[in-house]
Amino acid sequence: MEICVVGAGYVGLTTAAVLADRGHTVFCTDVDTDKIAKLRKGIIPIYEPGLTELIKDNQQRDTLFFDTDSKKHMAHCPVIMIAVGTPSAKDGSADMKYVKHVITAIAETIRSYKTIIMKSTVPPGTADWVEEELQQRGTRPDLFDIVSNPEFLREGTAIEDTVHPDRIVIGAKRSEAAMKVQEMYASLQTTFLLTNRLEAELIKYASNAFLATKISFINEIARICDAYSADIMEVSQGIGLDERIGSRFLQAGLGYGGSCFPKDVNALDYVASSKGVKLDLLHAVKKINRSQIDIYLNKITHALGEWTEKPRIAVWGATFKENTDDIRYSQAIALMKKLTHRGYAVYAYDPLATPELPSVIWCSSPYVAVEQADVLVVATAWHSFLEADWHKVKTLMRRPVIVDGRNALDKKNLELHGFAYMGVGRP
Ligand code: UDX
Ligand code: UDX
Repeated sequence: MEICVVGAGYVGLTTAAVLADRGHTVFCTDVDTDKIAKLRKGIIPIYEPGLTELIKDNQQRDTLFFDTDSKKHMAHCPVIMIAVGTPSAKDGSADMKYVKHVITAIAETIRSYKTIIMKSTVPPGTADWVEEELQQRGTRPDLFDIVSNPEFLREGTAIEDTVHPDRIVIGAKRSEAAMKVQEMYASLQTTFLLTNRLEAELIKYASNAFLATKISFINEIARICDAYSADIMEVSQGIGLDERIGSRFLQAGLGYGGSCFPKDVNALDYVASSKGVKLDLLHAVKKINRSQIDIYLNKITHALGEWTEKPRIAVWGATFKENTDDIRYSQAIALMKKLTHRGYAVYAYDPLATPELPSVIWCSSPYVAVEQADVLVVATAWHSFLEADWHKVKTLMRRPVIVDGRNALDKKNLELHGFAYMGVGRP
């Protein structure tokens, strides 16, 4: 198939590359001229393991093309996939302005039948709204189908998640349109759930809200573990062995961040309240996630005790999780801001991100960051942090205190090295 993917972000780029690799011809477009110029030269603007090679391979095979002229490719491709961002607006709703731009462009160019796939995460009712919008702009109803096909890939494992998804959800009004999208994914071995558009839209929000709930749930149980000096790692393992619960997304720590969970929980809350539905559970999920930072702050303050000289805190990790360069809604950054606010000197290191933050000093290596530190906080579970030279770290630090923001370090090993180790829910 010839497919036009609009939006070369984390989702659009990965999906375009995988579809091209699976035998389709994909034209991936973006309004960002600089991004497209780089992509054409094989320079990938984001960090995603394996993506550079996949894109280059398919550019060489002439199956993947990049362009700023989306209208040109919308006009000739029978399949258009919308993958532009839908960030949180101030009131928590999903900001649909980028989707609106794309709809306007489609209305202006459409001459032949198109299957329009909504890949961006959008509020329930969006497919119906797009359909009306196109018709109001004079597009004949027989010239298009709108299909809701939400994306579930995670940053850091985006290719693997796209090639081996747990399921592919296809929401369509007409079965012919659903079949067309299923055919596009025919090379992927998975369960296809064919449903209506509204349900497909809700599945995406509900999935992310449920995963966020799982994380806040385990973080709340970790608080009880702290009170009893019990180990959340054991508790989490025991819970997860129940197949009805499952072991994934039960890792306690600093809480969830990223471009999806915070935004989608807010957007679901917004649409629910617009219908008069109050989401008590999700409000609690958000509250727990916010206060998780304070739990860590208190641990750090407690570890520092009384001080005369300004405490020096090393923070390893700035991205919202490992294996990505994405810092959107990063809990690591939220923590750094609070640490500087308390008057501590913050020396930070991240393998990929060095965002400008008032009073945070970025260091050239994790070891430079820990020099003379009173506490080391590991805020993102990058592999290189887990495998650090702890002997070296100990000799560099002023006091050997480690706060594990992801419960990801080897506690026993650190204690053998002479560190005082603190996670959340770790005795
Ligand atoms: C995606 C989804 O589409 C979003 O709805 C979902 O919730 C998360 O994943 P993401 O890939 O993370 O978003 O977005 P981003 O990395 O911001 O990329 C969006 C791209 O679309 C940008 O490169 C932007 O330049 C481009 N864009 C935006 C267009 O090409 N046209 C526009 O009109 C607006
Ligand atoms: C998420 C969804 O998983 C994905 O299906 C959707 O398409 C986009 O949003 P992503 O945000 O890329 O993916 O990363 P994810 O691995 O889900 O992690 C989100 C946040 O939760 C990170 O900050 C991570 O550190 C945190 N997390 C995850 C935990 O705190 N504990 C866990 O057990 C799992």
